Amino acid sequence: MNICIIGAGYVGLTTAAVLAELGHEVHCIDHDEQKIRLLNDGKIPFYEPGLEELITKNSNYLTFSGRWDYIKRASVIVICVGTPPRPDGSTDLRYIEAVLDRLAATVESYKTIVTKSTVPPGTNEWMRAELIGKGTAPHLFRIVSNPEFLREGSAVYDMFHPDKIVVGLEPDDDRSLAVIQGMYAGINAPYVTTSLTGAELIKYAANAFLAMKISFINEMARICDAFAVDVNDIAHGIGLDPRISPHFLQAGLGYGGSCFPKDIKALEHAARSRQVEPHLLKAVQTVNTTQLDLCLQKLHEQLAPLAGKKIAVLGIAFKPNTDDTRFSPAEALIRRLSESGCTVAAYDPKATLSEPLTRVTQVQSVHEAIQGADGLVIATDWDEFRTLDWGQVKAAMNGTLVFDGRNCLDRHAVEQSGLRYMGVGRP
Ligand code: UDX
Repeated sequence: MNICIIGAGYVGLTTAAVLAELGHEVHCIDHDEQKIRLLNDGKIPFYEPGLEELITKNSNYLTFSGRWDYIKRASVIVICVGTPPRPDGSTDLRYIEAVLDRLAATVESYKTIVTKSTVPPGTNEWMRAELIGKGTAPHLFRIVSNPEFLREGSAVYDMFHPDKIVVGLEPDDDRSLAVIQGMYAGINAPYVTTSLTGAELIKYAANAFLAMKISFINEMARICDAFAVDVNDIAHGIGLDPRISPHFLQAGLGYGGSCFPKDIKALEHAARSRQVEPHLLKAVQTVNTTQLDLCLQKLHEQLAPLAGKKIAVLGIAFKPNTDDTRFSPAEALIRRLSESGCTVAAYDPKATLSEPLTRVTQVQSVHEAIQGADGLVIATDWDEFRTLDWGQVKAAMNGTLVFDGRNCLDRHAVEQSGLRYMGVGRP
């Protein structure tokens, strides 16, 4: 197949690389000229394990440019542009609108237009109406909603091994499913077919459910602290029930990233736009936003006064195996510590602080971060932090407090070295 991907972000690039690996001819368009130059030099503009190698491996079938006329050659167009949040939680569709303008000006022969960008319920139907309104003949295209469920840090693996492929179709569309099956030929996963809006809502429901599990276990962590019980025991105990499953039950600083915070707000906004009050979605967000307050409170109780203390923070990214700091709880914690008057030495294997902060220095190693620290905080659960030599950590620090903000450490190993361990719901 000849496929054109619009948008060279982590979803667009991962999709492009994997489709090229599956044997298709793929062209990826992005308006960012600098990004295109980088990609044509075989580099990617962010850290995603395995992606650069896959792009280089398929460079004969995978090209990049800012040229929209490539759309003419393709039979399938995959839209992967960003859908950022507006301040009121609604979704800014300006990049989708720009794509529709280009498509309306370019499409002359039949195209299957696949939306991968996460868009609010009703958007794909609106897109069809918009394209027709802009003069594209209805018989020249079909719209398919095909949301992605890729996790940053394991996007390439997830694209090759999805647990499902969701395909939302127009009511009278009897040809697009076969097109999508041809596009993903070689990937083994069950197909879920539904309406355009059904597919949009599956994406939001999946993210909301996962965020709900995180907020649930974070609320349990608060209860565990009050009753002197280890929340990891609770997660293990309930996770063995297949109706619950052990995944996404890791208590900590709360969820972040480019998807969960934005998508849950967008779903809340969409529900309200149809006069549905989303009680549970509100509670999920309240637990998440107050989680950081509680963690700071814990640090305050152990180190009071916080002002003037030197804190080593390990982790800046919103989760391990990425350099992404969007809505990162780790970076938010660093900001709050700085506002409390702490001096912070922050270290992350890949991520960089997104803005300069008073009394905060980003250092190049764990060793540098912990020198003379009064307290150590694990803010992102990178593997590198799980296996530290705690004897050496103790020797380098001034104080003894280790706050495991991701409940990822072996507490006995930490305590055996004479350090004090504090987790989230692990008294
Ligand atoms: C998520 C969805 O998993 C993915 O399917 C969707 O396509 C995009 O959004 P991602 O944002 O990459 O992916 O990260 P994910 O691994 O889901 O983690 C999200 C946040 O939740 C991170 O901040 C992570 O640290 C936190 N988290 C995750 C927890 O606090 N506890 C957990 O048990 C799991």
